[in-house]
Amino acid sequence: MATTHTHIGNYEFKSCFMNAAGVYCYDRSELEKVINSEAGTFVTKTATLNKREGNPLPRYYDTELGSINSMGLPNLGIDYYLEYLIELQETMPERSFFLSLVGMSPEETHILLKKVQESSFKGPIELNLSCPNLPGKPQIAYDFETTEILLSEIFEYFKKPLGAKLPPYFDIVHFDQAAKIFNKFPLFFVNCVNSIGNGLIIKDEYTVIKPKNGFGGIGGEYIKPTALANVHAFYQRLNSSIRIIGTGGVLNGKDAFEHILCGASMVQVGTALQKEGPEIFKRLNEELESIMNEKGYKTIEDFRGKLKMI
Ligand code: SIN
Repeated sequence: MATTHTHIGNYEFKSCFMNAAGVYCYDRSELEKVINSEAGTFVTKTATLNKREGNPLPRYYDTELGSINSMGLPNLGIDYYLEYLIELQETMPERSFFLSLVGMSPEETHILLKKVQESSFKGPIELNLSCPNLPGKPQIAYDFETTEILLSEIFEYFKKPLGAKLPPYFDIVHFDQAAKIFNKFPLFFVNCVNSIGNGLIIKDEYTVIKPKNGFGGIGGEYIKPTALANVHAFYQRLNSSIRIIGTGGVLNGKDAFEHILCGASMVQVGTALQKEGPEIFKRLNEELESIMNEKGYKTIEDFRGKLKMI
């Protein structure tokens, strides 16, 4: 029988599915729902140093093919998530959970990471280099020079397992340039992709979200081809020690199968989780297992990265 069990480094997960940061991860009550589902783990909402209210409402809108959001990093602050994660280490020592974070400036990012470095937290950390929704702030990972400087400063002191959440790239030269930078550092994973930034959805002549005059990150079915391309582009270019988390357009087991074929070791679910709730993880595991059984694959390592070219 097939299993969707996976691992990233020494961290073992009973399933390769988890939430994407931003969905079902704002507070303990949401995170507990993911823990109690058939997801392999969770990632917290991206934490900043202090609690943030985020952008004005409405800031999230579902469409038939996906979603648009401009949340603006509403979160309860790093101490809230760190405290909960450290508590879970005591109460559920057999499981590992991800912390997502980013500062509102490079200085704040260093303060956050030093706090995590000094804490007893042992889980993986996702540095969000790709939030498209902060007015006046660019997506860090689109600026290669800033990204390289930030990562070199971080890895001077940061010794815990750190990965990066990336925005989608759209040009082969950018895949090459970005991978060359990431390969210089002991990154634990990259997560491809965050939402496609700054889309616009219109209903009855109006924008559907308030912040940034209606511009927001696009997720869901719209973005699967871009997500798959990014997963596979980085799978082909990154050192094999840097694992890949695939995110974008995962609505069913087939979508996850394709992310894994492209090289993903884990698969995150955002828009579809928002629409369907944490019970989605049961369906996703069953659908992926059924595809694997049909094809005679027992573990995801049997087909991970083995996309065939015609
Ligand atoms: C947000 O809070 O604006 C979404 C987070 C992200 O896209 O990184």
